[in-house]
Amino acid sequence: MCGIIGRIGEGNSVSYVIEGLKRLEYRGYDSAGIAVVSGEEIIQCKAQGNISYLEEKIDNIKPIGNLCIGHTRWATHGKPNEKNAHPHSSYDGMFTIVHNGIIENSSKLFNDIIGNRDVLKSQTDTEVIAHLLSRYYSGKPLDTIAKVTKILEGSFALGIICKDFPDTLFCTAKASPLVVARGKKGCFIASDSGVLSGFADRYLSVSDGEIAAIRSGEITVFDSCLNILEKKSYLIDSNYTDDGKQGYEHYMMLEIKQQGKAVKDTLSSIIENNDIFFEKVKLTEEYIRNGLKSIVFIACGSAYHAGMVGKNVVESLCGINSSAEIASEFRYSKALVDSSTLAVFISQSGETADTLAALRVAKEKGAKTLSIVNVKESAIAKESQSVIYTLAGREVSVATTKANSAQLAVIYALAIYIAEKRGVISSGKASDYKKELLSLPKKIDETVSNTEESAKEMAKLLYNQQDIYFIGRQNSYAVSLEASLKMKEISYIHSEAYAAGELKHGTISLIEQGTVVIAIAHNSEVLQKTLSNIAEVKARGAKTILITDNKKIEKNGEIDEIIRVDTTLKEFSPSLLVLPMQLVSYYTAKLRGCDIDKPKNLAKSVTVE
Ligand code: AGP
Repeated sequence: MCGIIGRIGEGNSVSYVIEGLKRLEYRGYDSAGIAVVSGEEIIQCKAQGNISYLEEKIDNIKPIGNLCIGHTRWATHGKPNEKNAHPHSSYDGMFTIVHNGIIENSSKLFNDIIGNRDVLKSQTDTEVIAHLLSRYYSGKPLDTIAKVTKILEGSFALGIICKDFPDTLFCTAKASPLVVARGKKGCFIASDSGVLSGFADRYLSVSDGEIAAIRSGEITVFDSCLNILEKKSYLIDSNYTDDGKQGYEHYMMLEIKQQGKAVKDTLSSIIENNDIFFEKVKLTEEYIRNGLKSIVFIACGSAYHAGMVGKNVVESLCGINSSAEIASEFRYSKALVDSSTLAVFISQSGETADTLAALRVAKEKGAKTLSIVNVKESAIAKESQSVIYTLAGREVSVATTKANSAQLAVIYALAIYIAEKRGVISSGKASDYKKELLSLPKKIDETVSNTEESAKEMAKLLYNQQDIYFIGRQNSYAVSLEASLKMKEISYIHSEAYAAGELKHGTISLIEQGTVVIAIAHNSEVLQKTLSNIAEVKARGAKTILITDNKKIEKNGEIDEIIRVDTTLKEFSPSLLVLPMQLVSYYTAKLRGCDIDKPKNLAKSVTVE
């Protein structure tokens, strides 16, 4: 996934585009570049690495122009180097473009239509689009764009400059997010509306097949047959701003510390006078009581781990069948869902391509769709029948923490809501659950504060490890998966997570003297089983660490280290058990000198499959 932005307006557009690219870096930071119409010329400037490298180059050449497009890249086709950085221009220089997405038939189109490999300057699918635009150019850019985009297979959000029309910014999209906006600072295109906060107040979404042309402060949107469309505008979420690191060295630590507030703000928006109320959930009581037969949680990465917790909590509280599915698997599965299924899509960005595609599959099959997202009016939110927003605020660090915690809180609330509506739990029991749920924000803050020093110490044991294994059972298995993901995505240490009972079915063969095994165990009927698993790995030389909310267990011959968290209901225990794991990962990555907020090869929002 990549980020594109463009501006056309009075004054120099370059500084706006650079600022926009900085806000878009969460979508990838392998390389970046701009193109600006300067007099008769289109000046390009590109750099490998994050935006700061591009800024250095721009400071040297100081390009000026009131039409500028920019791109920050997460490499899909072609290495993350300067040659493959966007923008890309056509063989005759008529078209210069930036692209977010993947063109699946780019090689075929190039071979069939362009053919001459001498014109190729990069290894990207994007460059092929630019050549095709020139190849079909009829002197009318709109016709040309409509013609070329019809033969592209895959996904694209394109910002386009046509040399013959230096006063117009064109853009178009298919299965890739793109917005256009007009505001006090000029007219803009961008991969997401949040980055335009402060530049404009309202935006339009460019839907699949639509083309927008921006000229003299006017935005005109056309359908694929070039009929002018009237589009609904949306408010740009001005709260969705980046307030900086507020004194912390990394956004991740700031966001770890913001978790209590993120959960509190989220719960405050859905619990009032001890009643749970979902403003944008369109499920009738009749459906919840009699029509609903199963709930499936569908997501990617950390959001999927929250979905695993959701499965357990729904089965525990609601007594109905539930499952958790990885979105990229679900979208190509038989997807045996129907109107009796509530499909819950979890996504911080609301733009994850696999989750969006899975949502469309579930909708097609007739399932009720509900999304839990952190970005208002994001694609997943807009395409779901019901939506519950997490109010975690802008999450900048690629490794999610506060948004993931807010997702868990919403999931607990949803399970209580459904259980109460179905009459599976009494209002008294529901009230107890809600009371405990509302106590989580304080317990989260306390646990972060109480475990930070131990986590910092533990990182000294872990930072030079080659491998780290995490084990857990039931909800703690979901936590172990999340802990493992946090560790590997920011410290680059190989790590795996296993259901604690599963290790002995193969992977235990990898346990050697000194291998680190971290067991996550909430205080429940399976705690003792996990302690037995610790003994099994200890017997084979492992260094064992226990993360638990049990107050009695002490270090012994089998448990080398313990980090204890606050207690809560076992259903809600992931919200506390995960916290020291976030901190351990953070300090481990710090000791290894990793780029904690922008880990290599990753991006905050994965809008390609
Ligand atoms: C988690 O730390 C990762 N950044 C990643 O697994 C993320 O959770 C996943 O890509 C899903 O993103 P989403 O919540 O925006 O859909």
